[in-house]
Amino acid sequence: MAKAKTYYYCSECGYQSSSWLGKCPECGKWNTFTEEVVQAATSTKSKTHTLSEASKPKLIREVSTSETKRIPTLCGEFDRVLGGGIVPGSLLLLGGEPGIGKSTLLLQTALSIPGRKILYVSGEESEQQIKMRADRLNQEGGAECYVVSETVTQRIMEHVEAVKPDLLIVDSIQTICTEAIDSSAGSISQIRECTAEFQRYAKESGVPVLLVGHITKDGTLAGPKVMEHIVDCVLQFEGDRNYGYRLLRSLKNRFGSTAEIGIFEMHGDGLREVANPSEFLLSQRDENLSGCAIAATLEGARPMFIEVQSLVSSAVYGTPQRNANGFDFRRLSMLLAVLEKRCGFKLGAKDVFLNIAGGIRVSDPAIDLAVACSILSSNVDIPISPRYCFAAEMGLSGEVRSVSRVEQRIAEADRLGFEKIFVSKYNARSLNKKRFGIEIVEVSVIEDAFRALFA
Ligand code: TYD
Ligand code: MG
Repeated sequence: MAKAKTYYYCSECGYQSSSWLGKCPECGKWNTFTEEVVQAATSTKSKTHTLSEASKPKLIREVSTSETKRIPTLCGEFDRVLGGGIVPGSLLLLGGEPGIGKSTLLLQTALSIPGRKILYVSGEESEQQIKMRADRLNQEGGAECYVVSETVTQRIMEHVEAVKPDLLIVDSIQTICTEAIDSSAGSISQIRECTAEFQRYAKESGVPVLLVGHITKDGTLAGPKVMEHIVDCVLQFEGDRNYGYRLLRSLKNRFGSTAEIGIFEMHGDGLREVANPSEFLLSQRDENLSGCAIAATLEGARPMFIEVQSLVSSAVYGTPQRNANGFDFRRLSMLLAVLEKRCGFKLGAKDVFLNIAGGIRVSDPAIDLAVACSILSSNVDIPISPRYCFAAEMGLSGEVRSVSRVEQRIAEADRLGFEKIFVSKYNARSLNKKRFGIEIVEVSVIEDAFRALFA
């Protein structure tokens, strides 16, 4: 018998090497190499090289696109992220931390697609457990949804032959293994090979395949990073488990934009779509409280109005405490330094706590001005009207900088019935202000905003 061939793989990026390395030359991480036994079966090799009838060069203008009719999923948010439905023959990957709701989302989607045959393969749950979940979702749609608990790709392909589904769902890729390779399920070589097998199936049959992939913090299971270039579409499901909101983002999409996000709320009976996130995320407060400011942010192409809350109090200990929830801590330190140094607000002896309502993480820099104003509001203990909102970035010298798509933000603020929106002077220049009913307040430095709000 031939000696088993082993390779070393970087568990971060999947880099392959024939010997062990301390540092990965690809991603630069240390101590990430693990040994895996690889025995490529001789039969799979020849299979990949057979030319199907379709592989004949065609002129691009003669390639017809009529057959790529997307499969709509009745779940508006899911379709929106995909760009209008599932493309036949595509391979999709849904990633997310364990317990965030990936299985729930896919089962719910599978049950709601009307008039299609769906095969839901689970390597994690038994058929009874899937059924219990389906009962909980309480969604007896018209879908013909078959479920099977299976972990070997060759068996899965036999089930696929028998059922002939219109959509195949595999939950999760880390639990699936192929007989062609000797290493254990969840190892990088297994994940790569299984993904390649599903891709081959999807491309040859035209049946879309949805794969679930776990992202783990400690990286004991191989992350879906190695699959990213194989699949057509990478979706990420994220959110704070303590809150009900879940965001579905597309990180890569060969058939649509990656700017769209889907927003869901987790309930006892499954996920519900949130059509109007801006109205949803604003906390209903009757009283005017200091330290609150509303930011007009954009997530991808979608406006989201988010409440920023700050608490500034005198530091009890020698070193002032700083804490930020849902906002980059270093950015908060930078904003505080700007407020302190350039604008003369004495925050050095104060504790500052910052919270973004709803457990949402915001990366849009347009939230800066709202953060700065909420800190100032708490510091002087004067409330900002809940009918004001902010959309601007802050620079290191206290200047208020312009942000992208400001018209869209203003239009949304107008629609939601805000009175004033604070934007950068440089943004306001090119605006047609008559278009909007809302008052647009132009600021060029942070003191302008301070005077307008608290003087
Ligand atoms: P799950 O889909 O199992 O997560 P994943 O597949 O990403 O690991 O969902 C996990 C959580 O969702 C679980 O903690 C319970 C919660 N949940 C609800 O709140 N409502 C529901 O209707 C369902 C099915 C799950
Ligand atoms: Mg699951």
